[in-house]
Amino acid sequence: ATNRTFTMIKPDAVADGNIGAITKMIEEAGFEVIALKKTLLTKERAGQFYAVHAERPFYADLCNYMSSGPIVPMILEKENAVADFRTLIGATNPANADEGTIRKIFAKSIEANAIHGSDSDENAAIEGSFFFSGTEQF
Ligand code: CMP
Repeated sequence: ATNRTFTMIKPDAVADGNIGAITKMIEEAGFEVIALKKTLLTKERAGQFYAVHAERPFYADLCNYMSSGPIVPMILEKENAVADFRTLIGATNPANADEGTIRKIFAKSIEANAIHGSDSDENAAIEGSFFFSGTEQF
């Protein structure tokens, strides 16, 4: 079925000037951009977004990194969006990502890994609504 996923281009990829190149790959893979903006998270808001990882050893670093510069959150729509988008971005650690994936091409490290992709339909809806109001998700 056609459904939606949520993504963010992370601070490393935005700082490198790769918003356009990454968004082009996303559109060429068949995703429709439903919502998009450039914004900056505070450390506190990054912590809320990643609350599920609060007990992980990398949580504090992750919150610092994700608030270190602007990000580009988007809501995307496609047939089988969540699973197909995770295939497009590749493994969390770019060292393990397949050739041609967004992380293989643009990510620097397991933390500065260029892009986020939701892991379920339920989380896609929660994460999208973290950044976009109802009227922005038309
Ligand atoms: P993502 O999967 O989008 O959301 C959780 C993020 O935490 C992940 O991307 C990385 O940016 C970061 N992350 C995950 N695992 C590690 C790790 N082992 N060390 C550092 N950062 C990590």
